[in-house]
Amino acid sequence: MAHLIAPSVLAADFANIQRDIEMLNSSEADWIHIDIMDGIFVPNISFGMPVLEAMQRHAKKPLDVHLMIEKPERYVETFRKLGAEVITVHYEACPHLHRNLQQIHDLGAQAGVAINPHTPVELLAPVIKDVDLVCIMSVNPGFGGQKFIEGTYDKIRKLKAIINEAGASTKIEIDGGVNANNAPLLLEAGADVLVAGSFVFNAEDPLATIANLKK
Ligand code: DX5
Ligand code: ZN
Repeated sequence: MAHLIAPSVLAADFANIQRDIEMLNSSEADWIHIDIMDGIFVPNISFGMPVLEAMQRHAKKPLDVHLMIEKPERYVETFRKLGAEVITVHYEACPHLHRNLQQIHDLGAQAGVAINPHTPVELLAPVIKDVDLVCIMSVNPGFGGQKFIEGTYDKIRKLKAIINEAGASTKIEIDGGVNANNAPLLLEAGADVLVAGSFVFNAEDPLATIANLKK
């Protein structure tokens, strides 16, 4: 499968959000990555429903919603109504993860699980067949523009083996510090989806930067 690119709008210009979403529409990006933070699960607050509603009015690509929030089951249905096609919850925020995955599937969305840098991929083995996407955090969640954590490659290889062994079709997404230098190495290790925020939006030519990541 050709890999997917999911630019994160966390790094977009919120005063020009229509312009930035239209740039993504005309780009080679596959998904639009939406970071929702609650100030409790992570030490930052990003944006909420009204802003997502404004974004989705312009977006012409699938919305990949990454929920960095406690008790995500409270809002999953709302995010689905706001157009989320992939809904990702954090392993560390979900004591009843299997139930969370069921809830997302019942709403007709793809279900993702994100894991923090310290969380071993092996913990996902028992549910891997129920997971459409695993988001391996390659920075500590909460902020864009952080430095990529090198231990990520090893986690990708281990997770790939678990997915293959189970005969699952789970995608591996990498989120945090992705750039043109580490992208080829991440894909070689087994990544399927690359999220990139600051590398895309701080670039002089975001369209060319996306095209380059897609190559
Ligand atoms: C971090 C978010 C990321 C972030 C990535 O908590 O989950 O999606 O936007 O930003 P960069 O690519 O700048 O590390
Ligand atoms: Zn994210």
